[in-house]
Amino acid sequence: MEKTIKVTFIRGLNNIVLDEIKKVPNLKINYQGDESLYFDFIPDFKEVLTLRSILNAYVVKQGDALNPHYLSNHKSIIGELIDIVIQQPFKYKSFKLSCAGSDSKEVKEIKRYISNTYKLLESEESDLEIFIGKSGNTWEVGVRLTARPLTLRDYKVENIKGGLNPTIAYAMNTFCDLTSIKSYLNIFSGSGTLLIEAGLVNKDLNLVGFDHNGKTNALAIKNIKKAGLIKSIKLKTADIFDAPQLGTFDVIASDLPFGMQISKGEDLEKLYKAFIKYSDKVLEKSGKLVIYTTEHELLVEIIGKSRFSVTETLELKVSTVTGGYIYPKVFVCKLKI
Ligand SMILES: C[S@@+](CC[C@H](N)C(=O)[O-])C[C@H]1O[C@@H](n2cnc3c(N)ncnc32)[C@H](O)[C@@H]1O
Repeated sequence: MEKTIKVTFIRGLNNIVLDEIKKVPNLKINYQGDESLYFDFIPDFKEVLTLRSILNAYVVKQGDALNPHYLSNHKSIIGELIDIVIQQPFKYKSFKLSCAGSDSKEVKEIKRYISNTYKLLESEESDLEIFIGKSGNTWEVGVRLTARPLTLRDYKVENIKGGLNPTIAYAMNTFCDLTSIKSYLNIFSGSGTLLIEAGLVNKDLNLVGFDHNGKTNALAIKNIKKAGLIKSIKLKTADIFDAPQLGTFDVIASDLPFGMQISKGEDLEKLYKAFIKYSDKVLEKSGKLVIYTTEHELLVEIIGKSRFSVTETLELKVSTVTGGYIYPKVFVCKLKI
């Protein structure tokens, strides 16, 4: 049973993840799925942890025999994986084992083994995450390589309802040629995820964002400071309906309000029309407009009546905190010549 490294990602981001991996030496992919892929095991996984398009990374073993019953009789298989992870310079205190039938005798025995051998407390909010489950027809056991999910970026000290998953922000920014453009506007900037992910790629860009909610902007400023980008990002409190005069931009990126994030009494159609009209006004002729929303039908209709055309689309499946799914899309648009 060979060890491998597994990384997970949002369904629909496959090509973004593959493109990012191509740029990292030493990562040899041996299997690709719709929401995960596997690399040959490498003892130093620092490079894996630099990937910004993935949700999580694990060291795993797969095999038809690796069910909870077998693992409870061969606990060293899990032990070997845990030993790899806890070598890292982090003081692990707690663990969580995710496995169907967690009340069974076998699973309880495995938990006792982990707790006693590694002196860890079992906890829902844990540092060491272990799972046993099925991957297709094969059993799989894995341990997360990091104490926190990779999507919980260090800069995110403040969150807002409806904040964008940073791996999606990273993905949207890959369409923006960040290293060759000069200016980037983020309309509806919220907690600043798109701006920060862009600034981390190129802090010398003219990065500007605006949101009509002053309190949200104050939270975004804290995130921007934590990311070390306070000198690179300008944030304004402004309403799209007032068409703020901020100059013109090579790129506009926007996570549009939708669902619960739309203010009471605000009309989505009016808002999206104002957004497209404003973007037409402030985007450079050869610029790109990159948009994220679940309200794609409405947006496509409005784009259809505008001077923009859609050049690329990503269809995503994103899990929500309530355990459901949303099906947003990313649209890359250009002005028709
Ligand atoms: C989906 S959230 C953006 C979340 C952001 N991408 C993040 O990661 O935190 C939409 C944002 O649009 C802002 N907004 C809604 N209506 C607006 C308007 N008329 N003018 C400017 N901002 C508006 C909201 O305050 C909210 O922060």
